[in-house]
Amino acid sequence: MRKNSLLIINGPNLNLLGVREPTVYGSISFEEYYKQLINEFKDVEIDYFQSNHEGDIIDRLQLANDKYTGVVLNAAAYTHTSIAIADAIAAIDIPVVEVHISNIFGREEFRHKSLIAANCVGSISGFKLLSYKLGILALLNIKDY
Ligand code: DQA
Repeated sequence: MRKNSLLIINGPNLNLLGVREPTVYGSISFEEYYKQLINEFKDVEIDYFQSNHEGDIIDRLQLANDKYTGVVLNAAAYTHTSIAIADAIAAIDIPVVEVHISNIFGREEFRHKSLIAANCVGSISGFKLLSYKLGILALLNIKDY
């Protein structure tokens, strides 16, 4: 396994960041923010994957086990519905940090429940796109926990 190689996984509708509900999710695309992250963490290999499909996210989590030291996961709406993604996180050995752009606890009640949280090392919610950077920092410093 390579040192400090991380995978960011974005779930459904996050391909629309920048245009989707900008008051909630901001007005820059994830591709734009990803470039900033790559620039900021030059010593870290950071890959990015987005899918609107539950099974593809599960496949990617399974593959990540042998390829990365950790995963930053924004499962989007699947956070609140997917036992299958929760099981995939439990099935792999590398740490997964749950992130959300919006504060899921300050929104509709159905967003307050995360089915994946218990299987993640921790959760970061509500810091806009900074949530991803905080997730990366958490994974890079996990040995200090
Ligand atoms: C989200 C919060 C989810 O409730 C929602 O379904 C999303 C995005 C966030 O990043 O704030 O699609 O995960």
